[in-house]
Amino acid sequence: MMAKNPVVSIASSNVPVALLKREREPTMRPLIAGNWKMHGTGPQLPEIAAIAAGVRSTAPTADILICPPSTLITRAVQAAAGQIAIGGQNCASEMSGAFTGDVSAEMLKDAGAAWVIVGHSERRQHHGETDSMVAAKAKAAWRAGLLAIICIGETDAQRRAGNALTVCTDQIAGSVPEGITAVGNAIGYEPLWAIGTGHTPSLAEIGQMHLHIRQCLVARWGAHGRDVRILYGGSVNPANAHSVLAVPEVGGALVGGASLKATDFEAIINEIPAHV
Ligand code: PGA
Repeated sequence: MMAKNPVVSIASSNVPVALLKREREPTMRPLIAGNWKMHGTGPQLPEIAAIAAGVRSTAPTADILICPPSTLITRAVQAAAGQIAIGGQNCASEMSGAFTGDVSAEMLKDAGAAWVIVGHSERRQHHGETDSMVAAKAKAAWRAGLLAIICIGETDAQRRAGNALTVCTDQIAGSVPEGITAVGNAIGYEPLWAIGTGHTPSLAEIGQMHLHIRQCLVARWGAHGRDVRILYGGSVNPANAHSVLAVPEVGGALVGGASLKATDFEAIINEIPAHV
C-alpha cells in the first residue's frame, strides 16, 4: 500500500485563496509533450510527420511538443512542418567551451528547438544533476530563447515515507530559478516510480501534488506562478490521459513511451478534455 500524504489545505497555507482560485487564463493552453529519450534515428521521423499531419487536421486545443534526441532536432523540425514544436531533452548551462559531448541551449536553438527539458529524473539519477545544476540549465534555456520544462518528482521511498510534498517543495525551491514567467514555461511533475512502469498515482494523489506545486509557485512568484503550466508525467497513455488531464491544476502531460508511436501520441492528444 502506498503511504498517503496529508491532504494539502488551501486554508492553512499562506497563499491568498483568490490567487489559487482565479480561472485559468484563456491563453493558457495545455501542453502535451513527448520525450523520446534515447530512442529514434532517421527511420522514426515519419512518426513526427504523422503527428504533425494529425495536428493539422484536428487542430487540438493544446500546444504539442516532441523532444527527440539532439541528433534528430533539425530533421524533426522539417518533419513537423510548423505544426508542432520540437525541443531538446537536456542542455549544458554554459554557452560554449571545452565541455566535450555537451550541447548548449544556444546549439539546440540553432538546430531549431523551441523548448528544452531540464532536470529530468534520468539526468538527476544517472548524471548526478543537482537542483542548482538544473536551475543553471533552466537559466541557460531562457538565455538562449528556449522555453523550459523543469522536472521534479519524488522516489517511491520518499513517497512511502510521506515526504513526497516536501521533496517537491525543495526541488522547486532549488531547481526553478528566479525570473520564471508563465509564457510557455512549464513544471513537469514526474514521480520516479511512475516513469516507464505502467503505475500511476491515483487521481487524488496527482491532484494533491499539482495543487501543492501551484501553491509553491504562487507563494514565490504570485501571478506568474499562477499561470505556469504544471505537466503530469509518468506512464501517461491513451487509456488514462483523459482522466489525468481532467485533474485540476494538471496543465498537460509529459509522455515518454507513448510518444514514440504517432498513433498512441495522437490518441493522447485526442483525450484532452473539452474544458482543459
Ligand atoms: P513514461 O516516461 O511516459 O514512459 O513513463 C515519462 C518521462 O520520463 O518523461
